[in-house]
Amino acid sequence: MKKISKICCIGAGYVGGPTMSVIALKCPEIQVTVVDLNEKRIAQWNDDNLDNLPIYEPGLKEIVAETRGKNLFFSSDVDKGIDEAEMIFISVNTPTKTYGKGKGQAADLKNIELCARNIAKVAKEDKIVVEKSTLPVRTAETLKSILDNTGKGVKFEILSNPEFLAEGTAIDDLLNADRVLIGGDETPSGQAAKDSLSWVYEHWLPKERILQTNVWSSELSKLVANAFLAQRVSSINSISALCEKTDANVAEVARAIGFDSRIGSKFLNSSVGFGGSCFQKDILNLVYIAKSFGLQEVAEYWEQVIIMNDYQKRRFAENIVSTLYNTVSGKKIVFYGWAFKKDTNDTRESAAIYVADALLEEKAQIVVYDPKVSEETIYADLDYLGTRDPKENRELLQVTKAPIEATKDAHAIAILTEWDEFKTYDWKKIYANMLKPAFVFDGRRLLDKDAMASIGFKFYKIGES
Ligand code: NAI
Repeated sequence: MKKISKICCIGAGYVGGPTMSVIALKCPEIQVTVVDLNEKRIAQWNDDNLDNLPIYEPGLKEIVAETRGKNLFFSSDVDKGIDEAEMIFISVNTPTKTYGKGKGQAADLKNIELCARNIAKVAKEDKIVVEKSTLPVRTAETLKSILDNTGKGVKFEILSNPEFLAEGTAIDDLLNADRVLIGGDETPSGQAAKDSLSWVYEHWLPKERILQTNVWSSELSKLVANAFLAQRVSSINSISALCEKTDANVAEVARAIGFDSRIGSKFLNSSVGFGGSCFQKDILNLVYIAKSFGLQEVAEYWEQVIIMNDYQKRRFAENIVSTLYNTVSGKKIVFYGWAFKKDTNDTRESAAIYVADALLEEKAQIVVYDPKVSEETIYADLDYLGTRDPKENRELLQVTKAPIEATKDAHAIAILTEWDEFKTYDWKKIYANMLKPAFVFDGRRLLDKDAMASIGFKFYKIGES
C-alpha cells in the first residue's frame, strides 16, 4: 500500500472545497491542491479576507485559515495539479441533463468526461483517480475506457468514494463521518489503491467506519442513500397534508413513530419541501437508470418521492393565495430565507424559488431577506426558471438586508428557511409594522403557534390544523 504525499482535487465547489480542507487539516504531510477552471471561484478561495470564501459552512474558514498556503492550495492551473498528484479526486458538478437523451432525468457527465480526458492528456506517471462526484452506476467503466487509451503506458486505478456530507454541517460531517465508502476493483492493484485511500481517512476516522466494496456497489449506494433520505422527507410531508385536514399534529406523529427504533427519529421534520443540489438530481438519475434497465415499477416508485415534494411546495404557495382572500396581486409578502436550508448560502433547488415563482405568477410583491444569499443569486435563480422576463422579476421582487423594516405594510410573511435568527426577532414589533390581519406562513415549523397567535398573528404552520 502506497502512502500518498500529493493529492489534487478537480472541482473547488461545495464538496471539493470542504473535503480537501479537512484532508489538509488532518493529514499535514500530504500536499493538497484544489483546482478549478472557474478562475473567479479560485480567486475567492485565495482571498485574504476569509469572509469572501465562495462557500459558507460553519467551521470552514477557520480550517482554511490554518491550512491554506501550508499544505492546502487553490489554483486554476488544472494541468499542473493533475501532473503533480499521485491521487486525483474528481469533484465536479454532475447536474441533471437539460438536453438530448435522458433530458430532465439522466446525470450530465460532460464535466466528468472532460476531467478524464484532461487527466489522460497530462498524466505521465501512474495515478489513482477517485470519483468523488455522485455518478450513475458504471461510470467508472467510462472513465477507465478513456484513461486506458492514452497510449502512454500510464496505469490508472479508479476508485469510487462518494461524499455523504450535508451542506450546513459539512465540516462536522467530514470530521465525524458515520462512514466512508470506498469502491474499487477486486484485483491486487485495486485493493492497494483502496488501502491507500483508506489510509488517508484513517488519519482521523476509525478503520471500522471505512467500508470497502466493489466499485458498482459504491456508486449505487450514494444514489440509494439520497433516495432513502428524500423519501423520509416526502413521507412525513405527505402526512403533514393529512394532519392539516384533521386535528393531528405532524410533530406529534413524527415523535410517536420516531420512538420506534426500527423507524428512528431523524429526518422526520415536515417542511415546505426538500431542496439542494443533490436529492432531486440523484433520484431522477436513479429513476433513469431503473427505466433504462426496463424496471418501470422501480422507476415509478422512486419518482413518487419527487412528485410529493413538488406537491408540498405548490400546496404551500396555494395556501398563501387562498388564505389571503384568493388574491395576492399587489400585496407585499416578505420571505424570510432563500437558501435551501440554514447555515448554507447554497440555493440550488431551494423551495423558496418555486414558492416565489408561483406567487409572482399571481403578481404578488415579494421582498426577500436571507442572511447569507446575495441579491445576484436570488435574481439568477428566478431568471433561470424562465417563467417571465428578468425585468419583471426585478419589478415584482426586491431583496433586502433589513428584515424587520421590510415588514412595514406587509400583508404576510413566509418562512422558507429555518435560520435560527428568525426565532430571536422582535415579533411584536413586526406585528405592529404589518397590515392587519397579519399573516405568517411558517414553512419550516420554526415558531411557536400559541406565542404567535397571542401576539395577534394569523399563523399557519405546516402540518397543523
Ligand atoms: P459545485 O458546482 O459546487 O462545484 C463543482 C466545481 O467543479 C465548479 O466550481 C466547476 O467550475 C468545477 N468544474 C466543472 N468542470 C470542471 C472541469 N472540467 N475542470 C475543472 N473544474 C471543473 O458542485 P458540488 O456541490 O461541489 O458537487 C460536486 C459533486 O459532488 C456532484 O456530483 C454532487 O452531486 C456531489 N455531491 C454534492 C454534495 C453537496 O452537498 N453539494 C454532497 C455530496 C455529493
